[in-house]
Amino acid sequence: MRAEPFRSIVVTPPADDPGEPRLIELIRAEIDASGPITFARFIERALYEPGLGYYATSAERMTRAGDFVTAPELHPIFGQTVARQIDEMRQRLGSPADFTVREYGAGRRTLGKALPAGMPYEPVEFDSARPRTSFPGVVLANEFLDALPVHRVVGRSAGLRELRVGWSDGRFVEVEADLSDDRLATWFESRHIRVADGNVADVNLQMLDWLQQVGHDLARGYALILDYGKPAELLYGPERPTSTLRAFRGQHVSSNVLGGVGHQDLTADVDLDALADGAVAAGFDVLGRVTQAQFLLNAGLDELYAAARAQADNDWDRALNLRAAVRRLLDSSGLGAYAVVILGKGVDAEPPLSGLVKRAV
Ligand SMILES: C[S@@+](CC[C@H](N)C(=O)[O-])C[C@H]1O[C@@H](n2cnc3c(N)ncnc32)[C@H](O)[C@@H]1O
Repeated sequence: MRAEPFRSIVVTPPADDPGEPRLIELIRAEIDASGPITFARFIERALYEPGLGYYATSAERMTRAGDFVTAPELHPIFGQTVARQIDEMRQRLGSPADFTVREYGAGRRTLGKALPAGMPYEPVEFDSARPRTSFPGVVLANEFLDALPVHRVVGRSAGLRELRVGWSDGRFVEVEADLSDDRLATWFESRHIRVADGNVADVNLQMLDWLQQVGHDLARGYALILDYGKPAELLYGPERPTSTLRAFRGQHVSSNVLGGVGHQDLTADVDLDALADGAVAAGFDVLGRVTQAQFLLNAGLDELYAAARAQADNDWDRALNLRAAVRRLLDSSGLGAYAVVILGKGVDAEPPLSGLVKRAV
């Protein structure tokens, strides 16, 4: 059986809440004015509409009290391990005075708090001003790419078609239409992938735009990307006839992506091959890709665990919490199976970074 990613352990029936009325009205007005909109546009408004979208109305979405728990929010040991890798990157770059860690999709900035004292940290959110260009350092992105709005296409014998969102009988509905962007066809053709008849696939064009932007802004350094995703053959192959776009709410997953507008997260698996191709096209070298469990162990999770365990010796709850968190971080059917991709720009690939070198466990 296919291992389900961490963020889809519990499957519940679709929510019957249609969503935030003012947001529904705005999206509906756009459809009335210009016809069915792409899924990417629908997701953009549902998640990021100023003052109304899912991420625009609460900073607590990725916590236990919210709708899903990300690794940084699970336990500080995750951030401490990531910080170790980042510190090594800084040293590899010769510790330049203007070294900066820029985190995209920083959320509650929890990873920033784990960085060594005094290390410059620049969180970027969807509503941040365009950050400065040309800096040496590290671009960090944890569960960021999966939150970018995706297009959805469907394979047909006459060629690819795009799924859009229309309005009918008082609700949002899926509508089939022409492709809205030439890059949707190129996404598959350039990699010799044929989306089988009736299969639905997600296309994250914004990921390509983002790679171009960071490739331009980062003068020299690394991109450390942690997310759930799969190689193309697993995402679009016969095992996966439907798209991975799904909704999260109250720690549950549902396939009702057109309901609960503004009240639920929408997310899709990252195409790891497209990520690598897009990175190379943006001037990066792909230095390596490992599972999150491998990365954390390679980067020194065990040592940090031993030290934290010793400190928690007389505190039963703290010790248990630490142990449970480490188990979850390494779980090969959950967070441990996430992908960690490290890109380099203007840096030596050898010797490999410690996060990429297998340690004995
Ligand atoms: C799943 S959350 C992850 C938050 C945090 N990295 C964590 O792991 O807890 C995705 C984050 O990406 C942010 N985001 C989405 N689109 C963005 C964009 N275009 N630029 C910057 N941040 C964005 C969202 O607002 C949200 O905070």
